[in-house]
Amino acid sequence: MKFERAAVIGAGAMGSGIAQVLSQAGLEVVLKDVKDEFVERGLKNIKRMYDSRVKKEVLTQAEADYLFGQIRGATSYDEIGEPDIVIEAALEEIDVKLDIFKTLDLVCPARTILATNTSALSISEIAAVTKRPEKVIGMHFFNPAQTMKLVEVIPGVKTSDETVNHAMNLSRDLMRKIPIKVKECPGFLVNRLLFPYMNEALFALQEGADPQQIDQMLVDFGLPMGPFTLFDMTGIDICTHVVNFLYGEYGARFQPSPLLDKMVKANCLGQKTGKGFYLHEQGEVPKKGEAKKVNPQLQEFIKEANAEAKTPRSSRKVDAYRIMLPMFNEALYALQEEVVVPADVDVGMEWGCGIKRGLLTLAEEKGLDWCLTEMLTYHRELGERFRPSWYLKKLVRAGINDFSQLEPEPVGVR
Ligand SMILES: NC(=O)c1ccc[n+]([C@@H]2O[C@H](COP(=O)([O-])OP(=O)(O)OC[C@H]3O[C@@H](n4cnc5c(N)ncnc54)[C@H](O)[C@@H]3O)[C@@H](O)[C@H]2O)c1
Repeated sequence: MKFERAAVIGAGAMGSGIAQVLSQAGLEVVLKDVKDEFVERGLKNIKRMYDSRVKKEVLTQAEADYLFGQIRGATSYDEIGEPDIVIEAALEEIDVKLDIFKTLDLVCPARTILATNTSALSISEIAAVTKRPEKVIGMHFFNPAQTMKLVEVIPGVKTSDETVNHAMNLSRDLMRKIPIKVKECPGFLVNRLLFPYMNEALFALQEGADPQQIDQMLVDFGLPMGPFTLFDMTGIDICTHVVNFLYGEYGARFQPSPLLDKMVKANCLGQKTGKGFYLHEQGEVPKKGEAKKVNPQLQEFIKEANAEAKTPRSSRKVDAYRIMLPMFNEALYALQEEVVVPADVDVGMEWGCGIKRGLLTLAEEKGLDWCLTEMLTYHRELGERFRPSWYLKKLVRAGINDFSQLEPEPVGVR
């Protein structure tokens, strides 16, 4: 399939980034939102992205002008033409997305692939309101879409292999991204693995650990930033929503720390409100290595959380492995459900979260039997968050310590 024309629905943070990447990939793009002012804001954003590419000498001014000129704003479906693919990046509300897909199904040619950039909604449910579920797919970009390389390509139950291949090829060959195929499940791959880790950092805090020390510990371990810096950047309200959603879907091992609700109620949402785990000058992005001030309210939240519910404590000093093990264990749950092939766990966590050494590779270095013993010890002390997956037990019993033995050829397309 040749991709020449695309439409993007929603001209917000993600939609404008995706439209920029599509235009730089050589496609004509229609960027649609509900009001002129939103379209204008999206186009302005894209112009800024192109200006910065000129400044960095990635593109000449003439090239940037040409590529920017390939994007047209629209507020009506009459203006979206005959796209080869539509990528929807509107509000994360199921009714909004169902309406959009019903309309797209009516106005687009039968050959058009309809993709959604949803973070968590069901691809299969969205596909079911169209007469072409085989051509509906999830393409989950990461923020900012114009720079983050990873795309999770998520087929719904009726999506055809052909559509999957087209979405993979478009992402890899034209958009120059790194796509991985992920079976539809709550949180897909990256968020599903990230949140048990984020949550465990909160429980460590409740046991008296210091947020700066935990952040530093994880940076020393090889992550681009620690969990509390990430909480503050992402927004504690958004993280609370995600972890509650995953808890609802997967149960006990995602039980959220009560600290989150306390922080949301106190409007300590991270950078956007000037205080979260740290204090921030309003809107300022922390610079690497910059000394941070811990929010003095944090101790009060911890005290209240601990007084309300007695959470078990570990007899051991918190280390990086305690925080990382729930992420690793969730990867094993995902592998046991065949959500991805093993090689794509490392690809996803590298390009989605910056874990350069590879999550499964790190576990192999320590030994899977070591990981299992640790999980069982923490499970006895701290409960269900550390229940090891049966897949981990199976691998250890089989004496397997090398994931490449399970999947000799990486299937993830680079
Ligand atoms: N922001 C992130 O980090 C991130 C990452 C991955 C995926 N996503 C997902 O991408 C989508 C967009 O997120 P965002 O952060 O860009 O949101 P945003 O609020 O910045 O932008 C959403 C845009 O959609 C527009 N919109 C709303 N209803 C519409 C409709 N019916 N038709 C056309 N446009 C409509 C809004 O006017 C707004 O401009 C969501 O589904 C979100 O879950 C977000």
